[in-house]
Amino acid sequence: MLPGWGMAAPADSRQVRAVVLDEATIAARVGALGREITAAFPDGELLVLGLLKGSFIFLGDLVRRIERPLQVDFLVAASYGGAMVSSGEVRLVYAPETELRDRHVLLVEDIIDSGRTVNRIVRVLRERGMRSLNLCTLLHKHVAAGLELEPAFVGFDAPASFLVGYGLDHAEEFRNLPYIASLT
Ligand code: IMP
Ligand code: MG
Repeated sequence: MLPGWGMAAPADSRQVRAVVLDEATIAARVGALGREITAAFPDGELLVLGLLKGSFIFLGDLVRRIERPLQVDFLVAASYGGAMVSSGEVRLVYAPETELRDRHVLLVEDIIDSGRTVNRIVRVLRERGMRSLNLCTLLHKHVAAGLELEPAFVGFDAPASFLVGYGLDHAEEFRNLPYIASLT
């Protein structure tokens, strides 16, 4: 088990069960990911494409740890609704207006569960003639079979529980928790 996992929930947390990744643990790993990404893209134009809403805090912290020129845009995909299991329906609500052609594109996800979201987005993006497409996810549940694209950069392997905080929600709540906690 990684350091920072499995501590008791702090008193200010609402109905979260336990903190699974505290702020310091997340910050250290995001810094390391920034260094990995910096080294992986020595040249060319880099577009960091955040999948909203879940990736917004992770992306904000991550891009400040990538030490090379880059651009930022977002995609919005809606899934799950208020449920804690994937409905399998993924809708693209906003597609990036930035030109993707001839750019290195780094798609940033909060968490990969069934893989349906990533698979749908990757299929859409591949039609845009990018120089390269890579995936960075903060959390990976390792339950998805047959991902269209394996993530090149993974923050943490995630437990099977439903996680909230640091951008991740349940029914739009909890995104502002500075740590990641389990609800189930
Ligand atoms: P997938 O399509 O099943 O891989 O689910 C990916 C999306 O579902 C993520 O972008 C999240 O928005 C959401 N999701 C999956 N697992 C969790 C979780 O444990 N907590 C919060 N959101 C989750
Ligand atoms: Mg969500």
